[in-house]
Amino acid sequence: MQDGLHSSNESLYQLVQTLLEVYRYESGAMQLSLEEHNLEKMIEGVVLELQPLAKPKNIKIVTDISMRPCVAICDIGEIKRVIQNFIDNALKFTESGGRITVSLEQIDGQSVIKVTDTGKGINEEDQAKLFQRFWQATSGGRYYASTGLGLYLCRKIIELHGGRIWCESILGKGSTFAFAIGKVNSAISQQK
Ligand SMILES: Nc1ncnc2c1ncn2[C@@H]1O[C@H](COP(=O)(O)OP(=O)(O)OP(=O)(O)O)[C@@H](O)[C@H]1O
Ligand SMILES: [Mg+2]
Repeated sequence: MQDGLHSSNESLYQLVQTLLEVYRYESGAMQLSLEEHNLEKMIEGVVLELQPLAKPKNIKIVTDISMRPCVAICDIGEIKRVIQNFIDNALKFTESGGRITVSLEQIDGQSVIKVTDTGKGINEEDQAKLFQRFWQATSGGRYYASTGLGLYLCRKIIELHGGRIWCESILGKGSTFAFAIGKVNSAISQQK
């Protein structure tokens, strides 16, 4: 009972945080705090933090980091939030025994982060709608305190960084959610 209360409080707290943050981005009030950060350290930290949610579902979360150190100029708290959202979704839509891989590579001077799952996948028609506000697939049931704002907020965060966000998926096989930040249209020149 205590645990149940704690987790529903936590869900509501997260929901309010997400709503506030969406509002901040939409109103143009969001100011990124841009600094040089080590992306691989942050990724390893997020994966460690989320392991306790994966264990009971018998899902493995692993990292695949091809470049060390991988430094990017970004708002690390916001970029962390994007990865948390991707992994949160991957955990929701992947069956027991599945696998989630968080990868980091540098392509043409950009840092590219991908979260790949072995979950239910998304059909092509739905892929086009994923990053819209409040969008959720109709099948498969809704989750308590889930609003369909997670990926929309991720898009806002990456766009303000001057980056690109996308999804590749095959229905029934799994999905990859990815973003690229840095260099091209750098966030710094956007904020100046
Ligand atoms: N890894 C994934 N595999 C399959 N479907 C996904 C995946 N990630 C997202 N989706 C689909 O995209 C929808 C929108 O995702 P989004 O993160 O925006 O909202 P949500 O997870 O439903 O709610 P919230 O993030 O607010 O808790 C999901 O409801 C689901 O239908
Ligand atoms: Mg979500």
